[in-house]
Amino acid sequence: MNQPFLAERIDGKGFAADLVERLRDDVDELRARTGHTPGLAVVLVGEDPASAVYVGAKHRQTVAVGMQSFVHRLPAQTCQDQLMALLDQLNADPEVNGILVQLPLPAHLDANAVINAIDPNKDVDGFHILNAGRLATGQDALVPCTPLGCLMLLKDRLGNLAGLNAVVVGKSNIVGKPMAQLLMAENCTVSVAHSKTADVPALCRGADILVVAVGRAELVRGDWIKPGAVVIDVGINRIERDGRSRIVGDVAFDEAGHAAAITPVPGGVGPMTIACLLANTVTAFQRQHHLALQKAAVAV
Ligand code: GUN
Repeated sequence: MNQPFLAERIDGKGFAADLVERLRDDVDELRARTGHTPGLAVVLVGEDPASAVYVGAKHRQTVAVGMQSFVHRLPAQTCQDQLMALLDQLNADPEVNGILVQLPLPAHLDANAVINAIDPNKDVDGFHILNAGRLATGQDALVPCTPLGCLMLLKDRLGNLAGLNAVVVGKSNIVGKPMAQLLMAENCTVSVAHSKTADVPALCRGADILVVAVGRAELVRGDWIKPGAVVIDVGINRIERDGRSRIVGDVAFDEAGHAAAITPVPGGVGPMTIACLLANTVTAFQRQHHLALQKAAVAV
């Protein structure tokens, strides 16, 4: 017999909309105080269709919040020196407070060298080694957007996270590693599972907080989830089911009814990523203008 689905659906879409609303007010206030409008530059190299969709969404939301958006679309054959020259120009431009290079880059480009060429104080992705190091050592950092959004949802649901067992499934630089750092900073006991971990289901069963970011459709089954856990599903996977194309997460959502709460896909973590990108751009603007940090951007 099917168990009733008792888990709360965490409304990331609504949370992100509220955050964006607060950021709109912050942008107005910053413009009134400084005479400048926060600006975000996004660089897209090549024609990857998914990346083009993400960059379009970032542009629209940046404009909608009242910020300046500078989108640079470069051909796939752009060489390293050309990209570095553009980054030098953006680093020096006072109207550009945040810089994001959309990943993945074409294979002939050195992504690490590109990321580390961004001014760390404009690195709104939080991928520069200086920001990664600052996060790891508890210093003020620009924090990667997706894990920052996950942490906001967790703190909103759970309040103080200290002492909780957190398991992060996936160890990417974009999500898994910074997520683990953020949870450690909240005094969670953190484990990171990956493809070589001996028994991932057993590890997950001990998790009060389970964050899954591996990009494998419905990898995490219901019996991997501890009753009462809070589950954050970062995955966005397109699958065919019953002759229809559907978007599902990395967690088998319908089997997670005994969790305390879970983010749905879509409508959970996804909308938080761009909201946090905008929040990071406001934070970067404030630091560049030597202003005190305001509430919305430092909600965690
Ligand atoms: N590609 C997929 N996710 C991201 C992200 O968060 N930032 C950038 N720059 N590229 C991505």
